[in-house]
Amino acid sequence: MKIVIFASGKGGVGKSLVSASTAIELKRRGHEVGLLDLDLHGPTQHILFPSSGRPEATREGLKPFLSPQGVKLFSLGYIFKDSPLPIKGKEKYGMVQDLTWLLDWGDIDYLIVDLPPGTGDEHLACIRAFKTASLYLVSLPSLHSISVVHRAYSLFKDEGHNPEGVILNMCWLKIDGRKIYLFGKEYKKVMRERGMEIVAELPFDPLLSKAPLKRSNSGYWRRISKLVAEIIARANRS
Ligand SMILES: Nc1ncnc2c1ncn2[C@@H]1O[C@H](COP(=O)(O)OP(=O)(O)OP(=O)(O)O)[C@@H](O)[C@H]1O
Ligand SMILES: [Mg+2]
Repeated sequence: MKIVIFASGKGGVGKSLVSASTAIELKRRGHEVGLLDLDLHGPTQHILFPSSGRPEATREGLKPFLSPQGVKLFSLGYIFKDSPLPIKGKEKYGMVQDLTWLLDWGDIDYLIVDLPPGTGDEHLACIRAFKTASLYLVSLPSLHSISVVHRAYSLFKDEGHNPEGVILNMCWLKIDGRKIYLFGKEYKKVMRERGMEIVAELPFDPLLSKAPLKRSNSGYWRRISKLVAEIIARANRS
């Protein structure tokens, strides 16, 4: 099983959407996929994959459930719904550790992990448990976001990981065939200066707010398909 982690450091940049899209695209390509939402305080995969199903605790362990799209899912959102989870420090670290150890994913080819924003307990527990994972960071192409993401990138390096690079999301919006760069084009230079590789550049797609997981031939989904091909190629090389 190959493990692919999506992290950022920065909030609201599209980690959860890109994790979910990647899972859907891997499944479409014939791979068995699990998706682990490790956002304890603000899980969203239960919103992206709405279902009355929920993970189950059995004698063999904690079982994810199969979404209608055929992706195996675990998110605390299916259990706690909209209730807050008032835990901190060691409890959070322990909970993430438990989730990385206790879940019984069965026979899957890829486990996609969606991390919360920040560089705290959840991140450390996750990358220490999944030492051989491929790590992708997600950022907006803004200078502000890239600088926060660089901090997370450095933390992962200090922890002995070699992040694959950064997925820049919401780079442009196409209007009447013209690309409007929402945060300017300086990001390529800044990424070079920061020594971080750009693995993918994704457009802003207004249709995603209505139907986030509906695959189409849009620019966003074409680029997700290219990204997934790259993720598979890199995972097979490592
Ligand atoms: N390329 C895109 N085009 C249009 N909307 C997008 C795109 N990427 C993400 N979004 C939207 O931006 C919002 C934030 O995305 P998402 O929840 O995936 O970010 P996140 O990084 O996981 O946030 P958090 O840090 O809170 O976990 C969502 O409403 C999502 O649908
Ligand atoms: Mg998220």
